[in-house]
Formats: sequence, structure tokens, C-alpha cells
Amino acid sequence: MTFPAIICLVLALLSMFISLVLADPTIFNVVSYGAKPDGKTDSAQAFVSAWTKACASMQPATIYVPAGKFALGQVIFIGPCSNKVNVMLIGTLVAPSDYTVLGNKAYWVVFQNINGLKVSGNGILDGQGTSLWACKSSGKSCPLGATTLEITNSNNIVVSGLTSINSQMFHIVVNACNNVNMQGVRVIAAGNSINTNGIHVQLSSNVTILNSNMRTGDDCISVGPGTINIWIENVACGPGHGISIGSLGKNQQETGVQNVTITTANFTGTQNGVRIKSWPRPSNGFARNIIFQHVNMVNVQNPIIIDQNYCPSKDCPHQV
Ligand SMILES: *[C@@H]1O[C@H](CO)[C@@H](O)[C@H](O)[C@H]1NC(C)=O
Ligand SMILES: *[C@@H]1O[C@H](CO)[C@@H](O)[C@H](O)[C@H]1NC(C)=O
Ligand SMILES: *[C@@H]1O[C@H](CO)[C@@H](O)[C@H](O)[C@H]1NC(C)=O
Repeated sequence: MTFPAIICLVLALLSMFISLVLADPTIFNVVSYGAKPDGKTDSAQAFVSAWTKACASMQPATIYVPAGKFALGQVIFIGPCSNKVNVMLIGTLVAPSDYTVLGNKAYWVVFQNINGLKVSGNGILDGQGTSLWACKSSGKSCPLGATTLEITNSNNIVVSGLTSINSQMFHIVVNACNNVNMQGVRVIAAGNSINTNGIHVQLSSNVTILNSNMRTGDDCISVGPGTINIWIENVACGPGHGISIGSLGKNQQETGVQNVTITTANFTGTQNGVRIKSWPRPSNGFARNIIFQHVNMVNVQNPIIIDQNYCPSKDCPHQV
């Protein structure tokens, strides 16, 4: 061995030693917990193990999902955690291609009871919904399917740079959360896919959705009962059914929607543009302080639609 080669070897060993000793104890790589980036091996258990460690960390912790495809069945990340958790998603999460596996589970990837969560990193969630859409459009009886990502009962949430493709049901649901900031989110599904809402928000306050792009088969964004203070800016929708407030008034006792701003939005080739829809039923639900502004529409069937007789199934038993 030449002298420079020996130096190199020594330096390489030294740097390995340093990285082992000083490995950042707040970074939890799912591969270290057994996840396999082969697109086949179910890695849900490994993800949950990494989560459990990160969630128990007294310092802010990061769950790192490297490049590659990770097959996952239903996975539920539950708090409360000891500190903030950051999920750095570089790779792709792939749902089971057989829709009967998640078919009657309402959600695929769930974050619940967390205060201080950031999901970022340009990764992809692939719901593999195409065979379920085909089943639904054939008129056969099919399971409802799973929403790709649900964030529930959580506060101080950031979702940045995520892409959701081919969800079975809704792409992203924000339920019972406060202070949610979503930006640079992309949603992609076929224009004729059924029930593939882009982002659905309900029972939540102080939510912003910025710089996002939705191409899907149902509402690009839907704002459900109990949403207070939501700001949606610089978004593109199409194909899709537009941005909807509602549906509201399905139940007699219902929390209202208030203070909604949708500003600077493009609608291209959508069924609707901006919409408010409520069921023809007795209800104490309401929608107030709603602003739609700086909206561009190209090839939109119903640019502005306020429908107080919403009844998609032609079966409204308590109709007045
Ligand atoms: C939402 O934001 C408003 C205005 O900043 C604030 O007054 C309110 O407390 C927030 N809501 C919650 C539930 O924290
Ligand atoms: C309405 O929501 C915006 C954020 O979307 C917030 O800044 C503002 O304070 C809210 N207005 C009221 C009256 O709460
Ligand atoms: C909306 O369309 C305009 C004009 O084509 C474009 O400059 C802008 O980037 C679009 N916005 C989004 C959020 O895609």
C-alpha cells in the first residue's frame, strides 16, 4: 500500500468511527428499524417502531424515510409525543394494490393526537386507487376505500411538499385540528375517479393551504362543518369539482363554517369553480364570512354555484 492510500484508509475509518459515535440521536431512519425500500415488503411495523422512538424523544426528532418504495398497510402514528416530530419523506409510500386490504379501513396513513408535527420532503403517497375506482364505476358493490392521509385531533401541523397520487378515497383529511399550514402540496388522480377529494378540512381552525396544485376526480378542496379561519391562496384546481364549502347541513345539530378566504386560484377544466352546498334539511349549520377573490376560470362548467338543495343520491328523507 502506498503512503497516500494508507492515509485515505485511516481517514475513512476515522470518519466512520466519528459518524457512528456522533450519529445524531434525534434522527430515526425507518430502514434502521427494518423498513425495506423494495416496494413489496410491508414496512408498517418498522415505521411504527421508528415513530415510537421519535415520539418519545425529549428533543425534537426526525423520522427519515429515504429514497425507495415502501409498501405499507394501514399505519397509525399516535401521540402525544414528548417534543416536536418531523417526518422527512424522501421516498414513496405505496398502499396495497388489492383494495380489499384497506377497503373498509377508513384511513391509510394517520397522524393523531400530536402537537407539533411537520411532514416534508417531496415524498409521494401512492394510494393505488385505480382498481377501486374501476370497481365503483362498474356499479358493482365495492368497499368505500381508505383516505390516503388523515391528520386528526392535532395542533401546530406543517405539511410541505408532499404529493398524493391515486388515493382510493379522499387524498388528505384534516379533522379536529388547530393551526395547520399546508404548502406546496400536490394531488394527482384521474378526472373521472370517484370520491377522490384533494384536501378536506373539518372541525378545524386556523388552517392555511398555500401554493398547491390539485388534479383529481372530486372536489379539489372541500371545507366541511366546523371549519373556522381558513385561508387558501395560490392554488390550482383541475380536473376536479372545484373548491367547495360543504356539504353542510346534513345533520340537525352541526357546527358552522366561518371566515373562509380563497384568494388567487386557477380552475382549469373543472366541473365547478367555487361552490357552497348544503342539504335540504333542517339544521343549525351555517356558512358565514366567505370570500372568494382573484379567481381565474378556464373551461369551467359551473363557475359559481350556491346549491341549497344538495342531494347527490336523490334520496333525502327529511327534505323540507
Ligand atoms: C386561531 O387564530 C386566532 C387568530 O390568530 C386566535 O385568536 C385563536 O385563538 C386561534 N384559535 C385557536 C383554537 O387557537
Ligand atoms: C379570519 O381568518 C384569518 C386567517 O385565515 C385571520 O387572520 C383572521 O384574524 C380571521 N378573522 C377573524 C375575525 O377571526
Ligand atoms: C395560475 O395561472 C396563471 C396564468 O396562467 C399562472 O401564471 C399562475 O402560476 C397559475 N397559478 C397556479 C397556482 O398554478
